[in-house]
Amino acid sequence: MSASETTQTVGDGAVSVSSRGALTLRARIATRLRKWGSTHGVLDAVALGLLRPPDILELLIRSYAYQLSDYDCDDPFSPERQILSRLAEHTSGRSLLSVFCGAGRDAGIFCEAGYRVVGVDVQPGMIGLARRKAEAAGWDAEFIEADMYAASLPERYDVAYLSPVMYATQPTRALRRRLLDAMASHVKPDGVIVISARTAPPSDDARYRRYYRVARLTATLTAGFRQIVYGDRCDGTFFVHHYRPGELERELDVAGFDILDDITVDRHAIRFLILRPRA
Ligand SMILES: C[S@@+](CC[C@H](N)C(=O)[O-])C[C@H]1O[C@@H](n2cnc3c(N)ncnc32)[C@H](O)[C@@H]1O
Repeated sequence: MSASETTQTVGDGAVSVSSRGALTLRARIATRLRKWGSTHGVLDAVALGLLRPPDILELLIRSYAYQLSDYDCDDPFSPERQILSRLAEHTSGRSLLSVFCGAGRDAGIFCEAGYRVVGVDVQPGMIGLARRKAEAAGWDAEFIEADMYAASLPERYDVAYLSPVMYATQPTRALRRRLLDAMASHVKPDGVIVISARTAPPSDDARYRRYYRVARLTATLTAGFRQIVYGDRCDGTFFVHHYRPGELERELDVAGFDILDDITVDRHAIRFLILRPRA
């Protein structure tokens, strides 16, 4: 399935997550406002409030089309190495689905550790890079161009691993839950899911509180990001939700997932959670 064929039903209806076609007017205005405004300033907040969840997803995916060269390198970023032994305690299986695989950085780490990897990414450029790297390195891996929310894959895996911190870049709890469910539908009955979030402190300074109020007001007045919750923000070009202590655990519990393990990799300020869908 190619990105251009993919549609997904999110929030207010069916939306294309293709990186082709025109951006919505909201997304274009918000992009402009974010360029003019300072981070977490008023214009930045108005931009966040204007966007609807499909716009946020579309902007996220498009941004990767401009970052291909950043991913075409031998990147030393490898937090996954710190979780390999703990992962092996929860499953002895060796098939792994690399979700949002990008150019195959994490896929390479898992292949070198003995996993057979299938990577999924919606960006054709990323998939092309991943295939070239896999061929050159002789990895036991294949890469599929698909939107993970709608992907239909030929087998079930022992592990579904989501690219570092990408969980929190999905703009609503409902979407994060759909992503978890999509991953759960592709793991074996005794399989596990790995997600991660930044261990950054929660957003609760005065500047953030004002940003949040302005974004929420804009969302109400313009029927924009009505699902906004405290902790939502745009950092750099990305939407990201900053979790308060205990919030991620509650979100996962409500979504029907048990936390089997919780590993913090301090060097990268990332917290990995190994999950299993509750039967
Ligand atoms: C930060 S990059 C990660 C690349 C790689 N996992 C790594 O860590 O180097 C995130 C990737 O997620 C992909 N992506 C975002 N939303 C997606 C979706 N709905 N389905 C599939 N891939 C998606 C983007 O195209 C991008 O390549």
